[in-house]
This record gives sequence, C-alpha cells and structure tokens, in this order.
Amino acid sequence: MRDEESAWQCLLERRRGGGAVALQANAPREVEELFALYGDYADLPRGRSFAVAHLGQSLDGRIATTAGASRWVTGEADLLHTHRMRAIADAIVVGAGTVRHDDPQLTVRRCAGFHPLRVVIDSERRLGSDYRVFNDGAAPTVVIAAADRVRAGERVGQAEIIGLPRSNGGIAPRAIREALAARGCHFLFIEGGGITISRFLSAGALDRLQLTVAPIILGSGRPSLTLPEIAVPDEGLRPRLRQMRLGDDMLYECIFHD
Ligand SMILES: NC(=O)c1ccc[n+]([C@@H]2O[C@H](COP(=O)([O-])OP(=O)(O)OC[C@H]3O[C@@H](n4cnc5c(N)ncnc54)[C@H](OP(=O)(O)O)[C@@H]3O)[C@@H](O)[C@H]2O)c1
Repeated sequence: MRDEESAWQCLLERRRGGGAVALQANAPREVEELFALYGDYADLPRGRSFAVAHLGQSLDGRIATTAGASRWVTGEADLLHTHRMRAIADAIVVGAGTVRHDDPQLTVRRCAGFHPLRVVIDSERRLGSDYRVFNDGAAPTVVIAAADRVRAGERVGQAEIIGLPRSNGGIAPRAIREALAARGCHFLFIEGGGITISRFLSAGALDRLQLTVAPIILGSGRPSLTLPEIAVPDEGLRPRLRQMRLGDDMLYECIFHD
C-alpha cells in the first residue's frame, strides 16, 4: 500500500485477525513509520492481556494547567495518534479527573476504526451523570467504582457500573484489568490523567507507557507521573525506549514488557 490511509486500514485489518500484510520494500516513510509504531499492537494475539498508557506532556512534565486545562499540550499529530490507539484497543480507560475537567467523548473520530468500550474509574462515585460519555450513546461505557458505592442495577446515565473491592486506598489496577478482561476487553489504552496512569505504573500493571513531549514549558500545572519517593536516581525506572517524532513533538514509548 502506498498511502497512510490504506496502510492504517491494513493495520486495523491485521488487528481484527485479517493476517499479516508485509510492508513493501519501497513504502513511503509515513507508511513505514505507521507500521513501526502500530505493528506490534495490530499483531497482539487475541485474548492477550496488554495495557498501554499515554500522556501528552510539556518539557517540564505537566499534562494540564493547575485549573485543569489540557487542550492542547501536544499537537495535531499526537491527537491523531491517540485516536489511532483508541481504534486499535478494546477499551479506553480514564480517571474521574479527566472526565470532570475535559468532558471528553472518548470516541474514534480522527481516523478510521470502531469506538472501543469507554471506562471511567470513579471509585467514590463523585461524578454526576451529565457528562457526555454517560449520555451520548456513542459507545458502550462502564464506570469502575468501589463495590461499597454500588447498588444493584444502578447506572450512571446510560453507563453500567462495575463494583470492585477497595485495596490500598483505591482500586487495584490489576483487578480493573481482570474485570475488563472478563468482558472480552484485553487490550487497554489508558488515556489519563496523571494520577490514574501513575497508579497503574506503580502497581506494575502497565506493559507500555507512551509519553509525548511537546516543546513547551508550562512552569506550573498538573503533573504527568507521580510515583512513590526514591532516595537516589539509580532507583528510578530505566525502561527500554522507542522514540518517534510526531510533528513538533517527540513520542517516547517505554517498554516494560514485550
Ligand atoms: N495531557 C494529557 O495527555 C492528558 C490526558 C488526560 C487528562 N489530562 C488532564 O489531566 C487532568 C486530570 O488528570 P488527573 O491526574 O488530575 O486525574 P485523573 O487521573 O483523570 O483522575 C484521577 C481520579 O480517578 C480516580 N482513580 C483513578 N484510578 C484509580 C484507582 N486505581 N483507584 C481508585 N480511584 C482511581 C480517582 O478519583 P476518585 O478518588 O474520585 O474516585 C482519582 O482521583 C485534567 O486536567 C485533564 O485535562 C491530560
């Protein structure tokens, strides 16, 4: 295939089990890059549990202003990338803070592909039912909440609620992965915010973490990752990295598990 759109269709087909289509030797650079970035995801075996998180951040590690404005830290190419990740995943997961501040639709609009399941972690049920994900009917949606906050048959707008046990002051990311896998959602794309992704990372529940760094310094605002304190830099995580340019931004993909 010669153009980006048909290359993307081909990756989606691979993801749906349509068999491997090899990259032609003389493929244009954009097509080569598309295969390099999404090929692993398109080829994930059906039923294999896999979690990839993504954050768009400033050079100084902020994902939003203190007031919660995050549109847009990164550029158009990163936005397109997040829609492609949505389209290739079984479910998109976000924390309550992201729904509260952004009222996102969490659908696939910038590229071809189906909308995956939308999952909102709202352990204490603090979110009202008037956000778009709960009412627009665009895609199936579930809320993950602490089991003691859920009454049988209750919904948030049109969204179903899954109650899970509390663990260490929250809900264990592994339990979230298992509950979604039980509904056929094995490949999770965790789209933010920083608190949610930090919880998955510190629980060892991420296979990959994509950090897109934009050439901007915010100087204040909501942090990207916050992990338990370490004493010396040597104790930091040093994952294997892939990096790729996305317009003016740079995507760093941390690989924790192959
Ligand atoms: N630049 C980007 O890539 C990007 C992406 C997404 C969002 N954002 C921005 O980031 C901000 C929101 O991010 P944030 O870090 O403040 O919040 P967040 O991660 O969206 O939401 C955090 C909240 O979700 C719930 N939660 C998540 N995981 C949980 C777990 N394992 N157990 C229990 N509760 C859990 C908790 O709420 P409860 O305790 O109330 O249940 C927690 O306080 C917004 O300003 C948004 O615009 C930026």
